[in-house]
Order: sequence, then C-alpha cells, then structure tokens
Amino acid sequence: MEEIISIKWLDGKVRWINTLKIPWEEEYVESESYERLAKAIETMEIRGAPAIGVAAAFGVALAAYHSRAEDTDALRKELEKAIDRLSKTRPTAVNLFWALKRMKELISKDYVSPEELREAVINEANKIFEEDLKVNRLIGEVGNQVINDGDTILTHCNTGALATAGYGTALGVIRSAWRSGKKIKVIATETRPVLQGARLTVWELVKEEIPVTLITDSMVGYVMGKGLVNKVIVGADRILRTGHVINKIGTYTIAVVAEKHGVPFYAAAPTSTIDLETRPEKVIIEERNPEEVRRVLGKLLITVENVPAYNPAFDMTPPELVEGIITEVGIFRKPYEETITNKLSRK
Ligand code: MRU
Repeated sequence: MEEIISIKWLDGKVRWINTLKIPWEEEYVESESYERLAKAIETMEIRGAPAIGVAAAFGVALAAYHSRAEDTDALRKELEKAIDRLSKTRPTAVNLFWALKRMKELISKDYVSPEELREAVINEANKIFEEDLKVNRLIGEVGNQVINDGDTILTHCNTGALATAGYGTALGVIRSAWRSGKKIKVIATETRPVLQGARLTVWELVKEEIPVTLITDSMVGYVMGKGLVNKVIVGADRILRTGHVINKIGTYTIAVVAEKHGVPFYAAAPTSTIDLETRPEKVIIEERNPEEVRRVLGKLLITVENVPAYNPAFDMTPPELVEGIITEVGIFRKPYEETITNKLSRK
C-alpha cells in the first residue's frame, strides 16, 4: 500500500493534499507562496495539529527560498514577517507555535551570508517534516501495546496521515495494531461540523482495509452503553502539563461517556503537542465561522438563515478522564503533572 504523504517540500514549492476535497477528489495543490500556505491552514485545506506545524515550517522555508534579500539582516526581517503571518492562522494547536519557535530560534543565530541562513531554514523545515514521520511511527508502536486482538476502538475527528506529515497519531496507533496482525475494528464519529471523521478518517481506513463503522456524534452514548467499544483513542491539539487534553469539539463528551461505561480513554500525540507553559484557563479555543454550523460543508442550509450559532472548534478534557497519554517517548499516566514534568521539563 502506498503511504499517504499529506505535505511535501519540492525545491522551492510546497505540495499538499487539499483535505477539503476528500473523499470526493484527491487534489494536490502546489504553491511557492507562504501567504497561500497560510490561507490553506486558515481554510483547513491543511489541518490537524502536526500537519499545521509542518506546513508553518515549510511556509518559512518558502519565504527564505524566494527572498531577494541581499544581506542577512534583511532576510531575517522578511522571515520574521512570515513567521508572524503564519502564527495568526489558527490559535489552538500548539504544534504551529512549536514549529515557528524552532524557526525563530534558528534565524536568530549568526550566519555569514543570507545563503547560509536560507539553507539553514529550508533544512530545519525538512527536519521538522522528517521528525514528524518518524515520531508518528514510534507513537504507533508505543500505542499498540494497549491494543488487544479483537478490540473495537472508537476515534474522533481525523488523526491520520491527513492530519500529520504522514501515518498519523491516534490513527497511527490503529494502523500499527492492524499492521501487526491484530483483528481490530474502528468506530469513527462523523465529527460535526467539518466532518473530519466521516470524510477523512473513513477514507483513510477504507484505503487500508481496516474495518470501520461510521456513527454520528450523538450516537456515542448509545453505542458505548451497548458495550460495543473497548477503547477510545483520540489525538490532541494541545496537552497541558496538568494532563488536560485539548482536542476536537466533542472529545470531552466522549470522555465523559467512556468514564461512565468503564471504557479506557487515551490521547495519542507527539511530545511537540505538549505545552508545558500554559495553564488550563489560558488556553485559547478557536471559534470558527457560525456558517459552518448552519450549513453542511458551506452549502446546504440546515436551519433558519442567520440564526445565531456557536462554533467552538475544540474542547478540553480534564485529566481524571484520561487513562493515558501515548507519545513517542512512552505512555504518560496519572498523576500527569508529575509524570509529564519529570520526563519533559529537563528540555
Ligand atoms: O480542526 P482540525 O481538523 O485541525 O482539528 C484536528 C484535531 O482536533 C485532531 O484531533 C488533532 O489535531 C490531532 S491530529 C493528529
């Protein structure tokens, strides 16, 4: 099976899959412009925390590649402008800020020429891309340890190749379990309003021939009540030191229901998703255009025109509902403040 690579650097251009067109069409977009890449993040052509991080890094690389600056300081200024623009695309996924911080630190070093700085930026962006692919495989291997043969796993949103550089996080765990020969089944929630579950997760699972059943978000309680789910595995846009998991809207509801029915709830994410600084009350939850709620995928109006609609894109699951946080360096368990701090604070 050919692996899906969602975004790629092609010598002065970036090529990505337009996830808004999946599952109807596999459209690849190419651009030389970091502004175009910023728009792709805003409109969710590119989405999913790790993919956004990689895209932002490639955006800075595009700015470097196409700059006509003749000295290092002028180039540095242009790159700072690109970083600033890219940082304003989406507020919640911490991977975006993590990748841009890496780029910022890199450009603040000394360089003998603009060419040297340019090359360093392009190399760093490609390193972030390669690391993401490698880390996702590791998350898959680590997470596979909690999967039993015969498990039915419920997942929410899309955390697969289409949400990362490739392979996926929570969906990477599912992929690893399947590829290691475990006979698992997946229940995918549709994930209103953008339908990442119905459109993207189902598409990826069908491609890999992993058995999947689609449900609407509101069926989760019934399905768990009937004992049809053994485990929940979701991704994350930001995980706090306290163990709070910020992820796609609807995740919290699933975690509450899972607790009620004694189903273990796991989050899978790279350590680049762990935010050691921000306290729960300071997390910015993105609020998107209410039209996403009033219309199905920007088209069919399903309510009265212009009725007030609320559209928070993410929610926060408290640590007591989280059985474990699966990362490339192992599984964090409670008490999270202690386990996460001990392992990651030395960095
Ligand atoms: O709004 P999106 O589609 O960018 O939200 C994506 C999610 O919430 C994913 O679960 C999360 O980013 C993890 S992706 C590996």
